[in-house]
Amino acid sequence: MKRTHSCGALRAKDAGQKVSLAGWVAGRRDHGGVIFIDLRDREGLTQVVFNPSLAAEIAAMAHTLRAEFVVRIEGEVSPRPEGTKNAALATGEVEILAEKLEILNASETPPFPLDEEGVNEDLRLRYRYLDLRRPAMAKALQARHRAALAIRHYLHEEGFWEIETPILFKSTPEGAREYLVPSRLNPGKFYALPQSPQQFKQLLMVGGAEKYFQIARCFRDEDLRADRQPEFTQIDLEMSFIGREDIYRMIEGLIQRVWREVGGVEIPVPFPRVTFREAMETYGIDKPDRRYGMKLADFTETFRSSAFKVFQSAVSAGGVVKAFNAKGLASITTGQIEDLTNLAKAHGAKGLAWIKVEQGEWKSPIVKFFNEAEKKALTEKLEVEEGDLLLFGADQWTPACEVLGLVRIRCAEYLEKVGKLKKDVKKLDFHWVVDFPLLRKDPEHPALVASHHPFTAPVAEDLSLLDKEPDKVRGQHYDLVLNGVELGGGSIRIHQGELQDRMFREILKIPPEIVTSRFGYMIEALKFGAPPHGGIALGFDRLMALFLGQESIRDVIAFPKNARGQDVMSGAPAEATARQLKEIHIKSEGPAPA
Ligand code: AMO
Ligand code: AMP
Repeated sequence: MKRTHSCGALRAKDAGQKVSLAGWVAGRRDHGGVIFIDLRDREGLTQVVFNPSLAAEIAAMAHTLRAEFVVRIEGEVSPRPEGTKNAALATGEVEILAEKLEILNASETPPFPLDEEGVNEDLRLRYRYLDLRRPAMAKALQARHRAALAIRHYLHEEGFWEIETPILFKSTPEGAREYLVPSRLNPGKFYALPQSPQQFKQLLMVGGAEKYFQIARCFRDEDLRADRQPEFTQIDLEMSFIGREDIYRMIEGLIQRVWREVGGVEIPVPFPRVTFREAMETYGIDKPDRRYGMKLADFTETFRSSAFKVFQSAVSAGGVVKAFNAKGLASITTGQIEDLTNLAKAHGAKGLAWIKVEQGEWKSPIVKFFNEAEKKALTEKLEVEEGDLLLFGADQWTPACEVLGLVRIRCAEYLEKVGKLKKDVKKLDFHWVVDFPLLRKDPEHPALVASHHPFTAPVAEDLSLLDKEPDKVRGQHYDLVLNGVELGGGSIRIHQGELQDRMFREILKIPPEIVTSRFGYMIEALKFGAPPHGGIALGFDRLMALFLGQESIRDVIAFPKNARGQDVMSGAPAEATARQLKEIHIKSEGPAPA
């Protein structure tokens, strides 16, 4: 089955060579006796020609070829006749004049054409092995491999050791629901699959490993979206004797290396830094897409004693009034305004005030309450022009920013659909978001919860605030953001056992028996000479999706789950047999087991 070349290799200079290729029939055209096939392998496509002058049996065999048959051919490389060259194809200057043909395997008719865009995704996933033959998927798998290799080389050169950590573990406090695995040998007990190697990488620092990395599989039982999978991959690392700046430099170098080696693109460093406060103030989100404007502005003072009670009362209750200009969106439909209002309300807003600027007039049910000074302030700060749409949030600072942040993103989608969004699409807007609050409120918890995770160290100068004003303490947490996507996050950790213990018990108010049973060993480990340490994890799937310009991380994963967490090819998750359940001491309340 020897091949002399791949299907992506041959060029005009190879004309006259005798070659053999193997691959799949991507297309077949019959031009009155002359048969053309496009032969595909993972490297590309080559056109093969079967002339009528061939031995009758070869010509007859060529007639039987269908899409996705696997064949091997031998023949001579020949320049394509003028006018039939295909500049869009790397091998488009040549074709192979076939002399021999061997059918290695037949194929049933594929359930979808492999050269078509927009095929239903469940169908693609059902026949993923066919979908993977598509050039875009082959490109994604190859790029992912090359990126992983570049990352390994880089981290090795920087002195990191790649160390594997267990998959069968126990609960990790990272916010998502966990997958449980019953233990046959320990009736009634469960492993949890790790949401990340967080605790192990810290324990490796206690163990003296100093610089650890892993391209690690993580498991989170979350509601799935385009950028979330139940199992996904992190580029996970941890270092001892370092501070935040060392992590920034290390990751900036890593990103440069991937883009340079896999994409041939030079990424400027250092990445800009945006504080959490600035990001929220200006974009209403902690992972801003700064490639377009429509920034939020503050009008709290403007409306402090306004005749418009909705705004005035929000301010007198200690809140803020914020607004932004959805530039050019006065053409918004009533249905879209309703959608935006529902979006705001679903996130706790009481309403969503708006003003359309059309035919020189401000159109809105609330304009009648505004005086000239208020209008002037809006016009100036928001640079209001004909055709604009202004949107307002009046609430406490956090919800006001968050709601407008979501509305801003939705407005950008509306504008993008009609080609009116002014966005710098070529830009790769890498930036660090820093100075997060260590703790945040959570409607589901009576106490404050960790904004990153409970192992994150407070900023040293804020430590004294921890008891009295814990919500004012900044954490040594950082996120890496690219084009509005959170690519990674990490922190400098608490390395003192006492402080970690206090964090769990006194600040997060976790009951002592749970602290002991779940985190006792972590607190203990930190008491045996844990070095100062910190780290970060980048979402590898998200990194590759952004690198390749894909909307969904499913397009950079060989075998992803669908939006319901199912593998539609194999049918996972599936029922277990009664016997399997008995062995692991489980009674199922689902449909009766087989
Ligand atoms: P965090 O929870 O922020 O941090 O996760 C790090 C990065 O992992 C990616 N990610 C996901 N990608 C795909 N599907 C998911 N369900 C998913 N969840 C997260 C994101 C995210 O930024 N142990 C800490 C890191 C540390 O502190 O060092 C952690 O896991 O890109
Ligand atoms: P109302 O006086 O309640 O009818 O509200 C007048 C307008 O203000 C409506 O468009 C509401 O959607 C909007 N609105 C009400 N509460 C808020 C709020 N907290 N922030 C922004 N807009 C609001």
